[in-house]
Amino acid sequence: LEGAFAKVERVKTGIDGLDEMLNGGIPRNHHVVVCGGPGTGKTTFGTQYLYKGAKDFGETGAYITLEEQPDKIIEDAKQAFPQWTDFQQLLDQRKINFVSVGKRDFTHFLDVIQSFVTQHNAKRVVIDSSTILELYFGSPYEYRQNLFDLLDFLGRLDCTVLIIAEHSSPDREKMTYDLTQFLADGVILLYNLPREEKRLRGLEILKMRGTDHSHNFVPMKFSDAGIVVFPEEKVY
Ligand SMILES: Nc1ncnc2c1ncn2[C@@H]1O[C@H](COP(=O)(O)OP(=O)(O)O)[C@@H](O)[C@H]1O
Ligand SMILES: [Mg+2]
Repeated sequence: LEGAFAKVERVKTGIDGLDEMLNGGIPRNHHVVVCGGPGTGKTTFGTQYLYKGAKDFGETGAYITLEEQPDKIIEDAKQAFPQWTDFQQLLDQRKINFVSVGKRDFTHFLDVIQSFVTQHNAKRVVIDSSTILELYFGSPYEYRQNLFDLLDFLGRLDCTVLIIAEHSSPDREKMTYDLTQFLADGVILLYNLPREEKRLRGLEILKMRGTDHSHNFVPMKFSDAGIVVFPEEKVY
């Protein structure tokens, strides 16, 4: 790499095609929102990010789940990706960790992340999801007020963080942006678009501070080895 951003240290997502679109990966210690409708692959995206981080880069990861049970996510990943033969081993070695936040309380949520990251020296964190986190608060307004504290807190962690966010519309044209997306360093959008008798999976990078990146809307597919995107192809 040459020119602008050449010296930026990067964290590879481990998603084939995406790191190429990001010119090497997410700038280290940035916070990226991964946003999409139900079933678009957000949880898979986050799980693969931690799996590849542990497997290929020896980085410890923490998956902070506010919604789904850890066992459920782990079983789904094993079923979906038979080629992840060392997934259980990495879980046993505590290189990949699924952490469930029991109590619906923002301070408790921050404590769980803080103590986990410190104890295990985690470098990759996934929060699933900010949409559920918002429900910890009395109103969207209260969430927005605390969002600054959250991003401040994450900024002091020395971790590269994925913040998963639900989106209610499957339409690319109807995609709306919330404050989380404005404040985050990056936004990656996932889609499962209805097209005639089937659905098409797609991905686009809306923004990524600290690097240049592809602006293409590209197809995304599931394989036995994980999700893959195709930087040179078009969804439609
Ligand atoms: N190996 C696979 N092949 C095809 N589809 C898969 C595979 N693994 C998961 N899926 C599909 O992906 C969707 C779930 O992905 P998930 O990451 O849980 O999405 P989200 O978190 O966005 O709701 C489901 O519709 C499931 O059928
Ligand atoms: Mg999910």
